[in-house]
Amino acid sequence: MQYYLAPLEGITTRIYRRVYHDCFTPMDKYFTPFLSPHLKKGFSAKEKAELLPKNNQGMHLVPQILTNRAEDFLRTEEKLAYYGYEEINLNLGCPSKTVVSKGRGSGFLADLEGLDRFLDEIFSKTKARISIKTRIGRDEPEEFQRLLEIYGQYPLEELIIHPRVQKDFYKNKPKLEAFEEAAEKMTCPLCYNGDICTREDAAAIEGRFPTVTACMIGRGIIANPGLLGEIKGQEEASRKQLRRFHDRLYEEYRELHMGDKNVLFKMKEIWCYLGQAFPGCEKLLKRIRKAERLDRYEEVVNQCFEYVF
Ligand SMILES: Cc1cc2nc3c(=O)[nH]c(=O)nc-3n(C[C@H](O)[C@H](O)[C@H](O)COP(=O)(O)O)c2cc1C
Repeated sequence: MQYYLAPLEGITTRIYRRVYHDCFTPMDKYFTPFLSPHLKKGFSAKEKAELLPKNNQGMHLVPQILTNRAEDFLRTEEKLAYYGYEEINLNLGCPSKTVVSKGRGSGFLADLEGLDRFLDEIFSKTKARISIKTRIGRDEPEEFQRLLEIYGQYPLEELIIHPRVQKDFYKNKPKLEAFEEAAEKMTCPLCYNGDICTREDAAAIEGRFPTVTACMIGRGIIANPGLLGEIKGQEEASRKQLRRFHDRLYEEYRELHMGDKNVLFKMKEIWCYLGQAFPGCEKLLKRIRKAERLDRYEEVVNQCFEYVF
């Protein structure tokens, strides 16, 4: 089984991916959070920093595009080729209302004809290998059957399925029956994504879907960066390893000179998930969320790491 780090906008930045890759069991693939095509020549400074090969050395990185316009996809693909990217992922899963209302992400799943036309155009003109990350429908799981028929017409590099519909956001249980339908019908490589938070969760997916070649993990890794090691039979991450990981992330964000408030914002977002690895520390975690200065943040983080369970 291959394992991929899911793209999480605002969290799995190039800094996060690099520090994770150096500190824990490396992933087989990493994905950028979605890039929205724009008309500027080249990429913005922020996008460039995400994509530059020197910032992603030693990792298999797949850029992700969010759009419903074939010409925008192809233009962005061309810009990505300049940086050497030959594999690109299409986002058909984003549940955010602002994205869905524009018919993008999981919003595109409701426009079957438009989606088919879009895929026909990009697959007839692309020079890259294209994978899709999809939900099973916008409104109802029953939409998935027709979506699979559409996807089945194109030579997908792989199909990554997050078996929820848009209105689930990240709640409710992933619908494994829908994933099973794909496992039976699709001939392209399939990747499962959704709610893998323990070694047992990963084993259950592997056991139930023996033909599936990859699993993508998001929140489970942010909460427990040692999870892939555990899945591969290693010990849980030690407090020392977590501390080293945290300190490198913190240092690297500080070195970007983005302002203390932004560094705090980035670190607090990670703690929303990482906090789960610190049972009994609820009061300290609340103080992390409330910290408005770096010195205060550092003091509470020290207390968290020193806390004896
Ligand atoms: C904060 C956040 C940001 C996300 N950003 C993206 C994104 O940019 N592109 C994408 O395809 N999915 C995005 N996702 C969805 C995740 O990639 C993944 O599909 C989802 O979290 C389910 O997997 P998990 O249960 O392993 O976390 C995001 C999810 C969260 C919670």
